[in-house]
Amino acid sequence: MKKDILQALQTVSPIQVEEQMLERPANSKLGDFALPCFPFARALRKSPVAIAEEIAGSLTHPSIRKVEAVNGYVNIFLNRTAITDDLLHLILDQSATYGSSNEGNGGVVTIDLSSPNIAKPFSMGHLRSTVIGNSIAYLLEKTGYQPVKINHIGDWGTQFGKLLTAYRKWGNEEEVRQAPIETLLKLYIRFHEEAETAPSLNDEGRAAFKALEDGDSDALALWDWFKTESLQEFQRIYDLLGVTFDSYNGEAYYNDKMEPVVQELADKGLLVESDGAMVVELEEDMPPCLIKKSDGATLYATRDLAAAIDRKNKYDFVRSIYVVGNEQSLHFTQVKKVLGKLGHEWANDIVHVPFGLILQGGKKMSTRKGKIVLLEEVLKDAIELAQKNIEEKNPTLANKPEVAKAVGVGAILFSDLKQHRKHDIEFNLEAMLQVEGETGPYVQYAHARANSILRKAGAPDKFAIDEVNDYEWDIVKLLSQFPQAVKRANDELDPSVIAKYAVDLAQAFNSFYGNVQVLSDEAHKHYRISLIECVTIVLKESLRLLGIKAPEEM
Ligand code: ARG
Repeated sequence: MKKDILQALQTVSPIQVEEQMLERPANSKLGDFALPCFPFARALRKSPVAIAEEIAGSLTHPSIRKVEAVNGYVNIFLNRTAITDDLLHLILDQSATYGSSNEGNGGVVTIDLSSPNIAKPFSMGHLRSTVIGNSIAYLLEKTGYQPVKINHIGDWGTQFGKLLTAYRKWGNEEEVRQAPIETLLKLYIRFHEEAETAPSLNDEGRAAFKALEDGDSDALALWDWFKTESLQEFQRIYDLLGVTFDSYNGEAYYNDKMEPVVQELADKGLLVESDGAMVVELEEDMPPCLIKKSDGATLYATRDLAAAIDRKNKYDFVRSIYVVGNEQSLHFTQVKKVLGKLGHEWANDIVHVPFGLILQGGKKMSTRKGKIVLLEEVLKDAIELAQKNIEEKNPTLANKPEVAKAVGVGAILFSDLKQHRKHDIEFNLEAMLQVEGETGPYVQYAHARANSILRKAGAPDKFAIDEVNDYEWDIVKLLSQFPQAVKRANDELDPSVIAKYAVDLAQAFNSFYGNVQVLSDEAHKHYRISLIECVTIVLKESLRLLGIKAPEEM
């Protein structure tokens, strides 16, 4: 629409109108678009008032109903009925595919997300990575890419030698079975405490990791068991969140894929010794990238180098995304640089998508201290609270447990995704579950309310639109902007664009609902039902892109 108007403007006046000059007035009395003419005064040697009047006098377009010149502004009013008619038919016709595009042309984008460390609690950071990465995958799919979700599990490294050692000394099989992560974490902490007075423990730990790297079957069996138990615990969280992955190839998977990379670095003369360790030197202001420790053990970065190359070979990605916290920015910059030095042009296609912390009372929220499986409890608390709300407000609702899960989990997801991912976010369960304000339940509730009108109304007939009131027009304008919102969210890898959009649409729908009689106004009924149906389609699709369910009743 904006493009049409810009073109029409270009043909009636010698002015150069840039897209951002065309404003969208907040007050629809000032038109749907407004062009301030002050910037053209100098070049045209005319007053803005005169320019506005000239343009207003000659501007025409099938989509334009009326043009007014007011104090140097050209106010453009669109042809509401024709536009609304076209748009509603388009949305009803395309349904959930409305807003989809083929921009990506089927190109593969790998997304590294979630990636918790085994034998350690699933942290708030892992939650953010999971939720943001999952939404980005939906956005990519919607815009014609082929996302591949990779859960790069942290299951390798010297810490596992320490853990094996601790378990052999102090561990108990039954306890691990009962509470795997809690027990393994305790063992790991005890290892560090005891190593302070008995440093030889560290040598044992290193030797145990060496054995693991060399494929010692006892060590591997134990490690594999820890891994299985941990993954089962993580799976409970993924089930609650409704997130799945295409690959669980974690760090251990690269154990036998690092040597060729290290060799290539050496062959190309990039590997240098530094304090006994092997490193790749980078720009002056950047610390070198550690490839091998002095004892020969590989590092996090070594595994990421091997993983990046493996992903390129396996998937031939057009882009490779890593959804990992702000604090690992340097790591990913280093990995990219090293890949570039190896001559891989596709290193430029690697994108680190960073995000901020989850805070509680202004402090970093940690799952390390206190309760170990805090996150699972948080999710369960949210579901329980949602259940309580339902009991109070709608005790006869069908599928109460299912709706409570959708609302409770949705609340947590939404409060995370509505902020730009780079911001730190404050965790407040009560606030997240509010049905007022910019929350998941608010959007879900608008969707359910719209559905309840549809249920009462029955199937709509063919409709003819004779007028579009301001409440309806606000909805129509938002509906028409959905494809751009999807595009922008995807371009910027920023799900908050969709979350904010969903709140705006829910708000517009709620004021329409509060002010317009739908079912009793026979003349406009069928048109309005169709409009409401379009609202449900777009709200549901917006929530889906955020990984959130949209119950039809709540
Ligand atoms: N396991 C890591 C951590 O918890 C995150 C891994 C992110 N992905 C990667 N390819 N480095 O900090």
